[in-house]
Amino acid sequence: MSLDEATISQTFEIVRRYMDLDTQVPVRPVRTPEDLESDLELELTGIGAPMHEVIAKLWRVMAATPSTTSVKFFNQLFAGQDAAATVADIISAVANTPMYTFKSGGPQILIEKACIRRMASKVGYEDGDGIFAPGGSLSNMAAMVIARNHAVQGSRDTGVNTSRALIYTSEECHYSVRKAAGMVGVGRENVRFVPADERGGMRADALREMIVEDRGAGATPVMINATAGTTVQGAFDPIDAIADVGEELDVWVHVDGAWGGSVLLCERMRHLVDGIHRVDSVTWDAHKLLGVPLTSSVLLTKRRGVCRENFDESASYLYQEDDDDLNPGRSSIQCGRRNDALKLWTAWNHHGDAGYDRMIGHMRDLAEHARDLIAGDDDLVLSHDPQFVNVCLEARGKPSDEVCALLGKRQKAKVGWGVVNGRKVIRLVFANPEVQIEGVDELIAGIKAVAADLPERDNALTSEELCGAC
Ligand SMILES: Cc1ncc(COP(=O)(O)O)c(C=O)c1O
Repeated sequence: MSLDEATISQTFEIVRRYMDLDTQVPVRPVRTPEDLESDLELELTGIGAPMHEVIAKLWRVMAATPSTTSVKFFNQLFAGQDAAATVADIISAVANTPMYTFKSGGPQILIEKACIRRMASKVGYEDGDGIFAPGGSLSNMAAMVIARNHAVQGSRDTGVNTSRALIYTSEECHYSVRKAAGMVGVGRENVRFVPADERGGMRADALREMIVEDRGAGATPVMINATAGTTVQGAFDPIDAIADVGEELDVWVHVDGAWGGSVLLCERMRHLVDGIHRVDSVTWDAHKLLGVPLTSSVLLTKRRGVCRENFDESASYLYQEDDDDLNPGRSSIQCGRRNDALKLWTAWNHHGDAGYDRMIGHMRDLAEHARDLIAGDDDLVLSHDPQFVNVCLEARGKPSDEVCALLGKRQKAKVGWGVVNGRKVIRLVFANPEVQIEGVDELIAGIKAVAADLPERDNALTSEELCGAC
């Protein structure tokens, strides 16, 4: 059955009610899995029902789903709702365009290429290229595969046949780096964690020493992963200095800019990624700071054709027409692929570079305001000097994890905690351009109120927790 008028209007009624709920109940009540299972009848019984009944059930499910779009959500590296991108994503679902061939995708393929060209030019690549992947983790993994193939000749065809292939990354990097190493034949234990400085940025001097020493011992350095915007502190590795090391020692340099790559669109913060045009590849998630609905991640390469060289397979049943450059399936990890480009393209058409510059600058204003409030309050402790839009703090003497849980239970805000310098800290992420300065004031006041009701407990990780993190 295709979409009919009644279904369309019932569906948009859900959208409208969902938005109303974001205003009335920005933090939905916390409910147990058991309660949700029984109340919402989530078990699939195998018995069909008319569409209007299913849509009514769908609404009950949506109303119970935690909101990531309200102004009280600070829990992840994305928040809010970009109208232009959301509308385009809905339309993408209706069209269900597979992104492997021009034959099936038509202008959507050209749109994907336009997004990649624009992003590559923002990086500063003169003849850059790339591919959309389903998330930053997969973009990072694809980069690792490319770097592995580059460093260990023949590994694409015959497997990784080397004494020890090594990946270098800072100890503050995202877990997707180690996860990828476990999937691409490098091995999780062959990830070398380079010490970070007090701000959370990789120490390029230590990186150089480690590579020289490992190579001397017969290992094969495969890739240096520099993080632009770490997950907890929002720290930036010194990309220029890392690119120097990569060039001198001939090691592939990848920048994981899943989170912080968007500073490329912000005049005030662009300097944080100085030197990025020199590296071999870059991950950049539009579904994080640019507010595009999940997922919209791009792996960019400095040199044209790199993804195709590393991921291409021939398939006569699929690639039947057109220049291969117009068949992105030849360069992608997947075969069938969602259209993750239309929503970014639509939003970029709407906001323009100037709109993104304003929005990201505003989010930085919010972070700076939070930083100043925390620094000036004796009951709060600022955990680091924030470079970006992540602000970490402790409520003095009070357990950060319990503060976050209680904020959720009392429906004040959704906030998560992380670890900085061996201590549990409350991590605030300012990723929603709809949040205003007063919203930050309320958030900080809410943290203080909740903390006042909690018993004292230190936030230093216990030896068991430290071990679990190894
Ligand atoms: C620095 C960094 N890299 C990569 C990722 C993974 O991105 P995704 O969630 O799109 O897989 C994240 C996610 O938070 C991240 O913070």
